[in-house]
Amino acid sequence: MFCCCIFLAVSLLHSLCHFHVSGYDPSCTEYPVFTPSALVVKYGDPANVACDVCQKDCSGDASGLEHGVGKVTKNGTTMFWTVDRLTDWDIRLLCFYTSNQCTSTLNPTLYQLPESVSISFVNHTEMMFENQQYTLQCSVQNVAPVQSLTVTFYRGNTALDHLQSRSEQKKPVNETFTLNITPSREDDGAQYWCETKLELGPAGPQRPPVVISEKLPAIVHYGPELKEPPNPDVITITEGDTLHLNCSSVGNPSPSYNWTRPKNSSSSYTGSVLTITSVGFEHKGQYICTVSNTVGTVTKEFNVDVQVSSIPYIIRGTLLGVLILVGLSLGCYCKRNQRGNYKLSKIIVIDS
Ligand SMILES: *[C@@H]1O[C@H](CO)[C@@H](O)[C@H](O)[C@H]1NC(C)=O
Ligand SMILES: *[C@@H]1O[C@H](CO)[C@@H](O)[C@H](O)[C@H]1NC(C)=O
Repeated sequence: MFCCCIFLAVSLLHSLCHFHVSGYDPSCTEYPVFTPSALVVKYGDPANVACDVCQKDCSGDASGLEHGVGKVTKNGTTMFWTVDRLTDWDIRLLCFYTSNQCTSTLNPTLYQLPESVSISFVNHTEMMFENQQYTLQCSVQNVAPVQSLTVTFYRGNTALDHLQSRSEQKKPVNETFTLNITPSREDDGAQYWCETKLELGPAGPQRPPVVISEKLPAIVHYGPELKEPPNPDVITITEGDTLHLNCSSVGNPSPSYNWTRPKNSSSSYTGSVLTITSVGFEHKGQYICTVSNTVGTVTKEFNVDVQVSSIPYIIRGTLLGVLILVGLSLGCYCKRNQRGNYKLSKIIVIDS
């Protein structure tokens, strides 16, 4: 029947020709074959597909390719469908042959890259604190089909998580993906961003198209932390030496320093390293360094003991030694040259 050749409506085909739309039909001996077997088309691009209605059992007299858009030409048992600009999101092609009651369906996938991808913090949190939870959101505008989209959140070059939509909507949609993060101090200055990738399978583009967001810098505030461990022991220093008390710390915002010194030391100091170039006994005692920023405060204690310098004694001792040596050598000289007198005088000295 010629009337069965090309129909525009599924219902019409059903009522007149009694073939089955997809699914297995036991009376079907051979299904029409689409080439290619899958079609992935960018929205607005041209497309074409061929359908071989029969290869073995070609005794039928009617075949067709139902198409909502485009045009169909026929060459023997092969039908060709072409369209210049595919813009129908619900496109579906049915290829049928009447003699064996068989129908094949092709659902071309239309895709559209996201119009925009942007990243932000939920509720516009500008500033973060260490060890608290925040929510990042990646907003994707006008993408189709959203179920083929994979969203990856990144911190720097590190992928944090991959997310997918549960929506089966074929038409472009806007969707927001969220990720909870708990930043640490190491994340201060890091950049968060998201990447969207449309994975359309082997019939899709060889390289899945990617759209990325801008980079969102993280400012993580945290309390001061001492760079060097505390000194549990007493710091013993010799009078006259140079003393360095190192209280260097990190923190965001940058911490400030305040030193408490032994009573008899004067003046306030606000640097990270306290230096006393020539230590005296008045510098003995307890020093407390208080490091603080808007997030917190830490303190470090130093107990300083000052020892008497041994250098003056060494100098005196050395001088004494030198004098004795000089005296002795002089004595020997005299002994050799003035033996008699020397002996006499020495005896006199001892006796007195
Ligand atoms: C964002 O703020 C609104 C109102 O302040 C609140 O209702 C909502 O729960 C917040 N969302 C998140 C994820 O914290
Ligand atoms: C203080 O300690 C820090 C961290 O260890 C170090 O970088 C700095 O050079 C030290 N300063 C002095 C004067 O010793």
